[in-house]
Amino acid sequence: MLSVLRLRRLVRQVPLQTSFIFLFLLCILSVFLSSYFLYAVKQKLEPSLAAGRSADDLYVTPSRPLPFLSGVGGTLSSDGSRTDPVVLVFVESPYSQLGQEIVAILESARFRYRTEISPGKGDMPTLTDGQRGRFVLIVYENILKYVNMDAWNRELLDRYCIEFGVGMIGFFKANEKSLLSAQLKGFPLFLHSNLGLKDCTVNPKSPLLHVTRVFSGPLPGDNWTVFQSNHSTYEPVLLAKTRSAESTGLMHTSVVQDLGLHDGIQRVLFGHNLSFWLHKLVFVDALSFLTAKRLSLSLERFILVDIDDIFVGKEGTRMKVADVKALVETQNELRRSIPDFTFNLGFSGKFFHDHSIPTHLGYAVAPHHSGVYPVHIQLYEAWKRVWDIRVTSTEEYPHLKPARFRRGFIHRGIRVSVCVTKAVLSRWGIFVAIANNTLYGSKLSIFLLCQKSLGY
Ligand SMILES: *[C@@H]1O[C@H](CO)[C@@H](O)[C@H](O)[C@H]1NC(C)=O
Ligand SMILES: *[C@@H]1O[C@H](CO)[C@@H](O)[C@H](O)[C@H]1NC(C)=O
Ligand SMILES: *[C@@H]1O[C@H](CO)[C@@H](O)[C@H](O)[C@H]1NC(C)=O
Ligand SMILES: *[C@@H]1O[C@H](CO)[C@@H](O)[C@H](O)[C@H]1NC(C)=O
Repeated sequence: MLSVLRLRRLVRQVPLQTSFIFLFLLCILSVFLSSYFLYAVKQKLEPSLAAGRSADDLYVTPSRPLPFLSGVGGTLSSDGSRTDPVVLVFVESPYSQLGQEIVAILESARFRYRTEISPGKGDMPTLTDGQRGRFVLIVYENILKYVNMDAWNRELLDRYCIEFGVGMIGFFKANEKSLLSAQLKGFPLFLHSNLGLKDCTVNPKSPLLHVTRVFSGPLPGDNWTVFQSNHSTYEPVLLAKTRSAESTGLMHTSVVQDLGLHDGIQRVLFGHNLSFWLHKLVFVDALSFLTAKRLSLSLERFILVDIDDIFVGKEGTRMKVADVKALVETQNELRRSIPDFTFNLGFSGKFFHDHSIPTHLGYAVAPHHSGVYPVHIQLYEAWKRVWDIRVTSTEEYPHLKPARFRRGFIHRGIRVSVCVTKAVLSRWGIFVAIANNTLYGSKLSIFLLCQKSLGY
């Protein structure tokens, strides 16, 4: 009887509770609606600005109405969601060396791109798809192709860059025909070419530094271009001295950043190609900076340095006492920035048995990496059971070539790292480090040190 009463009281209370809940929901809804409208109206009144740009710069009026502007309503922003994460690369030809190197970097980092032969007259690719921008960044293998473009295409491209907050990277490579000193057409920027440079330093205040760290060292080649300007839009990224005898010790800018204060477009210009290893890092940082980190790589790198066949190298190439000492010294130096960093030294099993060498097992490489990929299950099982192998490496996953597409994987609890040989290392320089390796943790600084000591 008592329970029936209770039940009845409960039933009577329900409509009251329901109406409270209803009121509560109504409150939430009205708060949500009012904040939404306030925010939306505010957004319309204040178009968001890209970093480092003034509103005036963004409102450069085109002399002719451009097709992609109709219906956009004049709201300018670089919030990123309005462009596809694709880099548009203007190359000199399908086989040009620098063009291929640019593409290799984009591919190593798994960034999407599209190449176009630098247009002559009237064949600029379609830049927009409805109200979306199709490209997040423009790269010119030869910046002169950009500055000398016909007026219509130039305006189309500049307007696109301003409208969608898209930046630009360009290379200036002097040749025998280029003037020793010239102004970059249409810009308050002067170029001095065919210089030999020395003592390269990174401008520690450059806003685009991310992977690149302060460095100082030599520059290869003697066909450098330096940039000179007194406009506040230009900020040096790399600086160097001239190598000539009458050098005054004055620092010249060999990579310059245009903050967009001149015409509303942010740019990074290189006074040489990408053969200098530091340029590859600055290029990666420029990609990240100019796309507001949409095309960015984390600072974490997983690298294993495996020195193979330590005892059976060819006569004359085997390690001597001095080499061993240098190796230990380097290892200690690396340990200062990477805790527990240890070189892996490989040797054949026969040596292991004959000399009872003390080892840390857990890592093994099959002869020629065979059986690792494509996977030979028996090898994995035996490794796990007999030696408790946890790590190995392969050159084949998913394919041998091109090396920049190689990846690591984990199979049956054994981690398989991407193996790159020294030949590949020197070819792809820093970018082997960006392949997504799945091994022991370490930081990029180690790779920089490797690069330095290997002389890239
Ligand atoms: C870069 O320039 C140097 C010196 O002019 C040249 O030897 C090298 O082949 C060039 N590399 C690329 C990728 O263009
Ligand atoms: C560098 O410039 C000099 C002078 O213009 C020229 O003779 C030489 O061939 C150039 N070297 C390269 C590698 O382009
Ligand atoms: C900048 O350089 C130009 C050309 O050399 C010169 O005419 C101008 O007066 C300079 N401006 C400043 C602020 O130094
Ligand atoms: C690298 O690998 C990790 C773990 O497998 C994954 O989460 C991450 O997305 C990968 N990064 C790239 C750039 O492929």
